[in-house]
Amino acid sequence: MVKLNFVVRSVVITLAFTLSLCDANDDDGNPKFHIVYLGSIPETKASYSPTSHHLNMLQQVLDGSNPTKSLVRSYKRSFNGFAAMLTNQQAEKLTEMEGVVSVFPSKTLQTQTTRSWDFLGLPKAPKGHQTIETNLVVGFFDTGVWPESESFSDKCITEPVPKKWKGTCAGGKNFTCNKKLIGARFYTEDSARDNDGHGSHTASIAAGNDVDNASFYGIAEGTARGAVPSSRIAAYKVCSSAGCADHGILAAFDDAIADGVDVISVSFGAAAALNLDTDSVAIGSFHAMAKGVLVVQSAGNAGPYPGTVASVAPWLITVAASTLDRQIVDKVILGNGKVLTGRSVNSFKSNGRRVPIALSNGNSSECEKEYADICGCLDKKLVKGKIVLCDNHAEAEPKSAGAVGTIAKIDLADLNLGYVTIMPSVSLLPKDYDVVKLYTNSTKDPKAEILKSESGQDQSAPRAAAFSGRGPNAIISEILKPDISAPGVNILAAYSPIGSPTEDPSTDNRSVHYNILSGTSMACPHVSGIAAYVKNFHPDWSPAAIKSAIMTSAKPMITNLTYDVGEYAYGSGQANPILAINPGLVYDINKEDYVQMMCNLGYDNRKIKLISGELNPCKGAAHRSLVRNLNYPALTVLVEPRVHINISFSRIVTNVGLANSSYRVRLTSKPEVINITVKPRVLSFKALNEKKSFVVNVIGMIPNETAVISSREPLK
Ligand SMILES: *[C@@H]1O[C@H](CO)[C@@H](O)[C@H](O)[C@H]1NC(C)=O
Ligand SMILES: *[C@@H]1O[C@H](CO)[C@@H](O)[C@H](O)[C@H]1NC(C)=O
Ligand SMILES: *[C@@H]1O[C@H](CO)[C@@H](O)[C@H](O)[C@H]1NC(C)=O
Ligand SMILES: *[C@@H]1O[C@H](CO)[C@@H](O)[C@H](O)[C@H]1NC(C)=O
Ligand SMILES: *[C@@H]1O[C@H](CO)[C@@H](O)[C@H](O)[C@H]1NC(C)=O
Ligand SMILES: *[C@@H]1O[C@H](CO)[C@@H](O)[C@H](O)[C@H]1NC(C)=O
Ligand SMILES: *[C@@H]1O[C@H](CO)[C@@H](O)[C@H](O)[C@H]1NC(C)=O
Ligand SMILES: *[C@@H]1O[C@H](CO)[C@@H](O)[C@H](O)[C@H]1NC(C)=O
Ligand SMILES: *[C@@H]1O[C@H](CO)[C@@H](O)[C@H](O)[C@H]1NC(C)=O
Ligand SMILES: *[C@@H]1O[C@H](CO)[C@@H](O)[C@H](O)[C@H]1NC(C)=O
Repeated sequence: MVKLNFVVRSVVITLAFTLSLCDANDDDGNPKFHIVYLGSIPETKASYSPTSHHLNMLQQVLDGSNPTKSLVRSYKRSFNGFAAMLTNQQAEKLTEMEGVVSVFPSKTLQTQTTRSWDFLGLPKAPKGHQTIETNLVVGFFDTGVWPESESFSDKCITEPVPKKWKGTCAGGKNFTCNKKLIGARFYTEDSARDNDGHGSHTASIAAGNDVDNASFYGIAEGTARGAVPSSRIAAYKVCSSAGCADHGILAAFDDAIADGVDVISVSFGAAAALNLDTDSVAIGSFHAMAKGVLVVQSAGNAGPYPGTVASVAPWLITVAASTLDRQIVDKVILGNGKVLTGRSVNSFKSNGRRVPIALSNGNSSECEKEYADICGCLDKKLVKGKIVLCDNHAEAEPKSAGAVGTIAKIDLADLNLGYVTIMPSVSLLPKDYDVVKLYTNSTKDPKAEILKSESGQDQSAPRAAAFSGRGPNAIISEILKPDISAPGVNILAAYSPIGSPTEDPSTDNRSVHYNILSGTSMACPHVSGIAAYVKNFHPDWSPAAIKSAIMTSAKPMITNLTYDVGEYAYGSGQANPILAINPGLVYDINKEDYVQMMCNLGYDNRKIKLISGELNPCKGAAHRSLVRNLNYPALTVLVEPRVHINISFSRIVTNVGLANSSYRVRLTSKPEVINITVKPRVLSFKALNEKKSFVVNVIGMIPNETAVISSREPLK
């Protein structure tokens, strides 16, 4: 019933990631946006005024200029800090000042762009504690929402806004809330209205109403619905189409925690993992966790390469994207009658006629061959009125050159990405693309007809999507990331009618209320919804207990070792909302445990004091080897190959199942090169919330650099 995931990986991977921060490093002396993070709000000093403290600190570095002009935002509701315009020199001076945890330039993070709930086994209209569900508030940090979307109407909610809600509807002009969409704030642009589509999509996946007959031009038709359709939505617009700025993200955390949200869903992230004290999502979510608010974040879309997961803090749930059993396919019929199947989402209905095919690099002097091959440059004379072959997915140039369709080659790594197309287009795997190329080259009058996309079956689901960011965790290798998988490929959900369905208004000005998107951005709100669903049944559970329940009840997924590294691709497996309600045992973690982990990681004691707000946060001797004893619902260790290992992990489980119950250890796969022992083998409980500890010992040797030992350790 309670499963532990096990990863022992042989290579000590040294990951050297550099996020491009050119803006901050080129010291042209001009002030730039910086975040000055000061940790927790001091509780002891009753007279403490954060804003005057912030202004005072600024005054000391500003050489006489007006600090109120340079202070852009004060964070003071849920944690302490401010955003200000500072030169690099001033930022450096502040770093040295007392009470400062970190000073870093405000970066811009990127958004990581339904049948899915049926696939996950969550029945429609879940028979939960409806009155509690209507008390749940899920906060979305995203591009805002389209308040008039059917997914956000309050026609099914009769209960008034929950009493605990301290937020507000400040979405800007012409933005109206209702009993479902109860809160709105914006930190970019001039309203919380979603003019992109991403934010409406993610919010409706987690908490949207049931909306019948939703589809994208008839594709993926069905009922669009969220996991917790009766719960409330609060939109915090921190992203515009240009990205999501750190200073706005921290402001949204400062507000949302104080507003009283239960779960925060964050579908954006940095390009690569950042240290905990310069990662705005890690900082904000730490203070959320301290107040009992669970934060869920997407793993990022930089996969399938190792070490690409960008969400690394242990108090976050990090979500990988997996495939759905519904696949969206489109077909192309060649002049010789051969039919090939591709992966794009093509809404354009064929008129039944076959159209001439053109090679992009035909007899032309207009474009360089290499550029023409990938349809980066096309000769209008060659392609006008024809379907053009492109060695890479490209549609803007073919469309502007007058082509009426494209047949493109896609890499294996893009296999799972179903692009929404802007004209009749089909993306083929290399072997099928070569068939078309050969046919075109060897036929006098090559023709093809591209059909509108339709739904098909994918028997191999769930599989980790190729694009989904992979572990190991580049900052804390002992913490498994990603944590969990959820559907993130070809998800139909609400959209903004003024957003371009392909996110490029210059080539695609269609207006839709439902759209199909892929990305870990779409996987994340599935788990935010599940977290709210679990909280619905267990309102008193801590964020870590909810996370543990979701991880230990996950459905096992298949490892594909050719590029996947098991748990590093999908975490504990595919989230299962129904089983997550009754996990039997949970691995709980409180704020002090996380703080102790930071001590063990070797973080500066002074900083940990500020972050935790505790006088003496590091208890006992801190040592890196103790990091793996954080009570995480997964065991992970990186080891050197051909070196004898003898490693122990301690864990404590809390009984949330039957008062009188026993759990026995069962190893579901026994790797030959190592021995795993668990002591004791049986845990017997007499009462609810009783805690028992056990130790897992791993002895052996990993034979070579490529070996990955991945095993599951369930307690039955
Ligand atoms: C307000 O929003 C509605 C719904 O999108 C729109 O029809 C109306 O034109 C908007 N009014 C203003 C002043 O923007
Ligand atoms: C949904 O579509 C079906 C068939 O297309 C139709 O019978 C049904 O009435 C529609 N339902 C709604 C709520 O529009
Ligand atoms: C290529 O174009 C030139 C000039 O337009 C023409 O003379 C030549 O026959 C063409 N070659 C082929 C193979 O089409
Ligand atoms: C097309 O055919 C020509 C001659 O028949 C051959 O030289 C060329 O390699 C072929 N190109 C492709 C892409 O098949
Ligand atoms: C969309 O763009 C097409 C040209 O690509 C144009 O004909 C059409 O009027 C545009 N529609 C809207 C609503 O702007
Ligand atoms: C693993 O993935 C690769 C690349 O997608 C694929 O070629 C191979 O068939 C997969 N192996 C299994 C066992 O599914
Ligand atoms: C493993 O380590 C433990 C404690 O450090 C020790 O008691 C035990 O003998 C070791 N076992 C082996 C096989 O090295
Ligand atoms: C638990 O089980 C024991 C023995 O099976 C029994 O004596 C005891 O009454 C049970 N306690 C509860 C609370 O059911
Ligand atoms: C595992 O344990 C068995 C029995 O104690 C022993 O024979 C074997 O050598 C051990 N293997 C490793 C890899 O330590
Ligand atoms: C590395 O070890 C694994 C597991 O024992 C084995 O399957 C694989 O063949 C080995 N690879 C090399 C290159 O020795």
